[in-house]
Amino acid sequence: MVKYSSDQYESNVRSYCRDYHVLFKKARNDILEANDGKKYVDFLSGAGTLNYGHNHPLLKNVLINYLKKDGIIHGLDFITNAKENFIEIFQNKILEPRDLKYKLQFTGPTGANSVEAALKLARKFTNRSNIVCFTNAFHGMSMGALSVTGSISRRESISTLANGVIRLPFENYKNLNIDTITLLQNMLDDPSSGVELPAAIIIETIQGEGGVNIASKEWLENLCCLCRNKGILIIFDEIQIGCGRTSKFFSFEGYNLVPDMICVSKSLSGFGFPMSLLLINPDIDIWSPGEHNGTFRGHNAAFVTSAAAINQFWSDDLFQQEIQMKSSIIDTFLKRISFLEIIAGIRIKGMIAGIELLSQYLAEKIKSLAFDSKLIIETCGPSGEVLKLLPPLTITYENLNYGLDLLEKLLTETNNEFKNKSL
Ligand SMILES: Cc1ncc(COP(=O)(O)O)c(C=O)c1O
Repeated sequence: MVKYSSDQYESNVRSYCRDYHVLFKKARNDILEANDGKKYVDFLSGAGTLNYGHNHPLLKNVLINYLKKDGIIHGLDFITNAKENFIEIFQNKILEPRDLKYKLQFTGPTGANSVEAALKLARKFTNRSNIVCFTNAFHGMSMGALSVTGSISRRESISTLANGVIRLPFENYKNLNIDTITLLQNMLDDPSSGVELPAAIIIETIQGEGGVNIASKEWLENLCCLCRNKGILIIFDEIQIGCGRTSKFFSFEGYNLVPDMICVSKSLSGFGFPMSLLLINPDIDIWSPGEHNGTFRGHNAAFVTSAAAINQFWSDDLFQQEIQMKSSIIDTFLKRISFLEIIAGIRIKGMIAGIELLSQYLAEKIKSLAFDSKLIIETCGPSGEVLKLLPPLTITYENLNYGLDLLEKLLTETNNEFKNKSL
């Protein structure tokens, strides 16, 4: 195997580059090209950051023009043309048509930082300390965000510091038929349950890292109803699942609920730039100036590409229709493979899909074989037993079919080996 400087000098903490161990040089839409000229179809999309693909030509041109005019790149939270334009477009094309009223907080540029801001604000507003989070949740790797994350191995480095958290089963957790909402309701009503009224509940409507676990509309509506009745704030983490992944800009569109805060990041900039946003119900925006400060809040280059992406993809319904068509292609593929013995479950919403295999070993094997055949796909779930399909929403039909056909072939071959007991 070729050795790179990265192998020698980069910290042990590096991860994706261990699985996809080649030197990449460029990328366009749904294809990453390695130094040796080999081309890889991207079913990973920067873990949900490249919903509009790599280097979208329109966004690239808007950015180049902005740079040519010496547009401001870094301006702390100064008022700039780029920020004004982004805010107007976000209001006019995203919030107003959906009848949503939020203040915009530009947090530090990672998803985790908007989660931190949401948790801090919820605690400050309610003057309570506990946050409810769910099994298999993933909210980021900083202290607060990690404290509400499920995975024990990821929390190892903060061990006992994950305080002020109540963990509850997500909908359909292990198919145990647990009614989490009734359970929580009863515990909150019982003065002796030991559970104090929490400040907030934080939830992903679809758990991306946790295994593509999809909460139903009804369950989410009931959860939000409980929050309203009890005065608990509800925070939606749309970091991986927002910006069109489910075919709508927000995953909960059409649901009868309104979150108090929404964390948005990853594909928000449209171009892979770090950008993170916390949407806040104006009534709870009680921050003092600078109370959640940061040097890189609202990167102007990201404002520019984000505004252009919203204009391009969210001015009408065409993009949503395209996502729905591609989703139905993935759905048909999932139904074709669902009978294989090595498959424990299939899940899909929009253009995120999970194929749960019987073991982590099987999922890793398919991932590695896929990479050998020039398809980049990752695993997720409690033990990495779920293959996660997360192609760019702009993937060509040709490359989508290439990836799905390849996966079908690899899954079928592996299933045959499994049945012949050679696995
Ligand atoms: C749902 C969710 N929340 C939060 C995060 C953290 O985002 P970041 O890695 O940008 O801090 C992620 C990252 O994968 C995520 O999927």
